[in-house]
Amino acid sequence: MNHLLKRTTIMLGITLIVPTINAAEVESLRGSQPLSENAKQPVSKKWQSDRPPITRDFVQQPPLVPHSIEGYVINIKSNKCLSCHSWANYKDKGATKISLTHFTDRDGHDLANVSARRYFCTQCHAPQVDAQPLVKNTFTPVKGIIGR
Ligand code: HEC
Ligand code: HEC
Repeated sequence: MNHLLKRTTIMLGITLIVPTINAAEVESLRGSQPLSENAKQPVSKKWQSDRPPITRDFVQQPPLVPHSIEGYVINIKSNKCLSCHSWANYKDKGATKISLTHFTDRDGHDLANVSARRYFCTQCHAPQVDAQPLVKNTFTPVKGIIGR
């Protein structure tokens, strides 16, 4: 019994040391600023310049926005994205038309106009900056998916 207790004590000693070493390697997005000080101001990244459609990485992916959307307003009165991407306007503007899936409401009914659940485009379609992944990962895109 005594022998067992001794082993447990030694193991506890080890577990206490390990997290201290790891904590030094992991840094939060806020950086290592103490809580009593203001966080450092983040560096704002530049939007990437307009480019052709970006290849999708998996089949169900909402395509990434290949152009700047700075100042584009989406609210109850107007939707700047639809001024180019709606079925009424896409031809004149040379933009991709929103797909039929965007006309289906949550109960599966087909509507005559874009569904409320697809109205706020930037919920799913993200504009791009030159940002590197914060955490390394081994994701590889599905092969054979075309640009659109
Ligand atoms: C001034 C017109 C215009 C406006 C406004 C606009 N777009 Fe676009 N968009 C385009 C054009 C043109 C393309 C590229 C079409 C091509 O090259 O085939 C494009 C491409 C895209 C694509 C890529 C489609 C694909 O198949 O890969 C997405 C996603 C997109 N836009 C989303 C948006 C969103 C979201 C907004 C609003 C925040 C928006 N766009 C506003 C003109 C516009
Ligand atoms: C809930 C997420 C979601 C929202 C909100 C949304 N989309 Fe999409 N969008 C998708 C997905 C997923 C796809 C790819 C599959 C598909 O076509 O449905 C897509 C596809 C597209 C495409 C490419 C169509 C094609 O034929 O290749 C365009 C353009 C687009 N969306 C524009 C828009 C615009 C403009 C809005 C806002 C009015 C919008 N989307 C809102 C998820 C969304």
